[in-house]
Amino acid sequence: MTDKKVIAIAGGGSTYTPGIITALLDHNDRLPIREVRLYDIDAVRNENMRLIIDLLLKQKGFDEVQLIVTENPEVAFTGVDFVFSQIRVGGLKMRELDEKIPLKYGLIGQETCGLGGFSYGLRSIKGLLEVVEFVQMYAPDAWILNYTNPESLITEAINRKYPNINMINVCDMTISIEETIAHNYGYNHKDWVPVYYGLNHFGWYKEIYDKSLKRDIMPEIIEKMLGQEIENEDLEASWQQTFKNMSKMLRHFPDYLPNNYFEYYLFPDMVLEHTDKNYTRANMVMDGREARNTRMAERIRNGETEGVLKFDFGEHGNYIVDIATSILNDEHRRFMLIVPNRGAIPNFRSDAVVEVPAYVGATGVEPIALDPIDDFHKGLMEVQVAAEKLLVDAYFEKSYLKALKAFTLNQTVPSASL
Ligand code: NAD
Ligand code: G6P
Ligand code: MN
Repeated sequence: MTDKKVIAIAGGGSTYTPGIITALLDHNDRLPIREVRLYDIDAVRNENMRLIIDLLLKQKGFDEVQLIVTENPEVAFTGVDFVFSQIRVGGLKMRELDEKIPLKYGLIGQETCGLGGFSYGLRSIKGLLEVVEFVQMYAPDAWILNYTNPESLITEAINRKYPNINMINVCDMTISIEETIAHNYGYNHKDWVPVYYGLNHFGWYKEIYDKSLKRDIMPEIIEKMLGQEIENEDLEASWQQTFKNMSKMLRHFPDYLPNNYFEYYLFPDMVLEHTDKNYTRANMVMDGREARNTRMAERIRNGETEGVLKFDFGEHGNYIVDIATSILNDEHRRFMLIVPNRGAIPNFRSDAVVEVPAYVGATGVEPIALDPIDDFHKGLMEVQVAAEKLLVDAYFEKSYLKALKAFTLNQTVPSASL
């Protein structure tokens, strides 16, 4: 067995931290740990999370794992092996504005898409570059595994500044789609080998090979989704709506299975119909996941321990921890990763950041080579990539004009005047 590792979580106060730690403990045989460090700029959130994680470690029998909670980057990152990054620059309060300002003008208001996503991008790049700089300074050999959004923009920006860095950018949407669909129609998504391509939150399944059934099951999944929309009471209401909208999209475009985020680009009218301009997803998260974590910390502070910890994680934590084990043990597992194209999609610009299947081992990421893609997908992707590249240019060059061009090219925006 390898020696025990030191893990840091950037954005330690994140609502997702308990899920990542739980996944780490569940993977202890493949990734043994001796120390966990929570790094955040917000001491109150950090302290709340300290209470939760301390109890979690004890209740899962990992008392010997040392927990360090800090706002000091040197303390956080010196000598770590892995950094899991999940910061939200500006917090959920700014997410609320990203969502509500475009909605005022009848446009999509969303965390990672449209004008809200681009605004979040301009904030997030700066925060994540700072984290990356700290890691370069205090643990230059560490692997950074990043969930911080908006991922396409983040990856584009980091690759420009640090083209050779040990960093993997990953999104949980594809694994969550697979988990939800498989659960709904009685498959096991762990048997699936999907072929998927696109940009982050902007891609399509072309094939889903099922290893136990020994065939491509995508056509029958599309049939099923067309016949009966996904009904899953365990999902929050807004996510249930999102999965229902996938069936609606399939009625128009039944040849590929789209990432659910296409509802914002292809059917904004349908989304706006279900959107409350005064109570958006940020409000639901603040009143839901965030409030639950705050209450949990409060109960622990008051001395309660039994029955306090209750979470609902899905595959989010397991997916990113599996990437870490795959590097550490050279496992060559397959993930959907956000990487420079460099020919993976042969008829698409090679300098774009794309999301494609890739194998991960001790030497890092090896994306697979795909078939050429069709003009509908390529056209949508070309525009989106151009908009993203202009936005990252705008960030580095501090150019208002480039930002305006990026915002105008965003496919949720019908007019430059808006
Ligand atoms: P959150 O606001 O609950 O947590 C984020 C934490 O980051 C906060 O505690 C905040 O204080 C901290 N933070 C902000 N700026 C920081 C900085 N510069 N340095 C260190 N810490 C900083 O948000 P959340 O809902 O838990 O989401 C966290 C992040 O994970 C977001 O970026 C979200 O979009 C992303 N996310 C991505 C995926 C994916 O598929 N890629 C999935 C889920 C969440
Ligand atoms: C999925 C996406 C993430 C996004 C999240 C939002 O997991 O892959 O990129 O941040 O959904 O979920 P929330 O519950 O915060 O609205
Ligand atoms: Mn995502």
